[in-house]
Amino acid sequence: ETNYDALLVETRGAVGLITLNRPKALNALNARVIEELALAFEAFEADDAVGAVVVTGSERAFAAGADIKEMADKTYAEAFLEDFTPTWRRLLACRKPSIAAVAGYALGGGCELAMMCDMIFAADTAKFGQPEITLGIVPGFGGTQRLARAVGKAKAMDLILTGRMMDAAEAERSGLVARVLPPERLLDEALEAAEKIAGFSRLAALSAKEAVDVAFEGSLSEGVRLERRLFQALFATEDQKEGMAAFVDKRKPAFRNR
Ligand code: CAA
Repeated sequence: ETNYDALLVETRGAVGLITLNRPKALNALNARVIEELALAFEAFEADDAVGAVVVTGSERAFAAGADIKEMADKTYAEAFLEDFTPTWRRLLACRKPSIAAVAGYALGGGCELAMMCDMIFAADTAKFGQPEITLGIVPGFGGTQRLARAVGKAKAMDLILTGRMMDAAEAERSGLVARVLPPERLLDEALEAAEKIAGFSRLAALSAKEAVDVAFEGSLSEGVRLERRLFQALFATEDQKEGMAAFVDKRKPAFRNR
């Protein structure tokens, strides 16, 4: 049993729900929060009853960035030696699909955390940005890479070089956000989508995520080759037989993850 200080971690049906809970600091990501995020993702990855993960914050802030107070006095040597990359890798190693449900500020490391999830649902109150340049630094949790891939060079340069914020409508237009919702619908819709994903064959869901991730990271030919392998491999599963038989029989499939 892990005791979380800065997160609320629970399961809702087949969904693992992580709520950032440092309200006084607008959920700023300090070393403790980042470690707990890795632990929570690892716990859900290991829990067979969980098929998808939702990460959310508060109404006011998903997360307002890495913790500036914690970083303010760091030397280069300290920053270099305290590398969060291995910790983020533990979160990114989760094969189960994840949704960031974002209301309010998702700035700096907060925007970067949202982008580490497989998709972002945003309340119409959401504000995304990489304001690091205003602090004399640059994004440090993958923002220059993931934002550029998500929204293209022009918008990424605009946001990262000026430090300005982008609202939910612009974020959806730009391809950063999958769905924009009224704030009171945000969490329910994310949980419903996650529950839906968790209800499919886990073999198919994990394969789909893996294949789309390669589209984001690798070359087209490499991605198409991987996709074809995964597609073909799923014909070795009972869930493929069940899914297609159910379609032909006009009934609901009963997936058993085998
Ligand atoms: N780190 C530490 N504390 C933070 C914080 C952060 N990133 N963001 C907000 N807080 C704290 C504030 O210091 C304040 O605490 P006190 O009450 O003790 O003063 C509290 O949260 C509430 O914040 P504000 O009073 O500033 O609230 P606001 O409504 O006036 O403004 C805001 C909201 C525009 C988000 C503003 O808080 C802000 O600009 N925050 C910083 C955003 C930022 O620069 N993020 C990037 C961080 S660097 C980074 O993330 C590096 C990386 O990529 C790895």
